[in-house]
Amino acid sequence: MIFKDIWLDIKAVQERDPAARSALEVFLLYQGIHALIWHRFAHWFWRHKMYFIARLISQIARFFTLVEIHPGAQLGRGILIDHGCGVVIGETAVVGDNCTIYQGVTLGGVGTQKGKRHPTLGNNVMVGAGAKILGAFEVGDNCSIAANAVLLKPLEDNVTAVGIPARPVKKDGVTIPKVKKSATIEEYQALKEQVRRMEEQIRRLETLLAEKEKEETTP
Ligand SMILES: CC(C)(COP(=O)(O)OP(=O)(O)OC[C@H]1O[C@@H](n2cnc3c(N)ncnc32)[C@H](O)[C@@H]1OP(=O)(O)O)[C@@H](O)C(=O)NCCC(=O)NCCS
Repeated sequence: MIFKDIWLDIKAVQERDPAARSALEVFLLYQGIHALIWHRFAHWFWRHKMYFIARLISQIARFFTLVEIHPGAQLGRGILIDHGCGVVIGETAVVGDNCTIYQGVTLGGVGTQKGKRHPTLGNNVMVGAGAKILGAFEVGDNCSIAANAVLLKPLEDNVTAVGIPARPVKKDGVTIPKVKKSATIEEYQALKEQVRRMEEQIRRLETLLAEKEKEETTP
């Protein structure tokens, strides 16, 4: 089972990293793969309640790969951790099948509470370089989280989210129209100028009206 998972991870790199040449090269030279191999064994020990050995393996893995995956994290099949360096995956995180995780990604929590506190990713999710997904919520299948985004809320299936905090910009590949929330300083200044001109016109009209009334009332 563990060996099958490792083989599927290697295949995932070959399929999704254009720079990968052979399975042997991926096995020997990819630190993302090394991190996953260490994790598959650490997770086995964790599931069998040998927590110290599990943590020890994960810390050794962190030393050699710069990828920190808590042994309690549940990772699906065909995961690609590309470049790897700086990836942190928390204890209660769940990663679905065929997900791609780039360097600098954190699947983390936002507080110190115990229990489920890390995100659950569906299948075929892509998490861009440096993105942070923080909290115990679900990210649907086929979602893409942009590089450097900070995602704090759940996402439905097939959504692309960008920015800090991350907001959906595409659903099923179609751009979501932007909702303008507040005016910019320039727009505010233009509005102020428009009001000033309207006040001036009203004053002039009032003066004209007053003169007209005066003319009409004088015999
Ligand atoms: C999020 C991502 C998948 C979007 O891909 P896409 O579906 O082709 O989307 P688009 O390029 O059409 O971008 C949609 C909108 O999101 C914005 N956007 C895209 N990536 C963004 C990012 N990382 N941060 C902020 N905004 C981003 C675009 O500017 C565009 O905004 P606009 O509609 O106002 O012009 C891609 O930009 C990304 O970040 N991929 C991660 C890749 C990565 O980490 N590679 C590491 C290799 S080492």
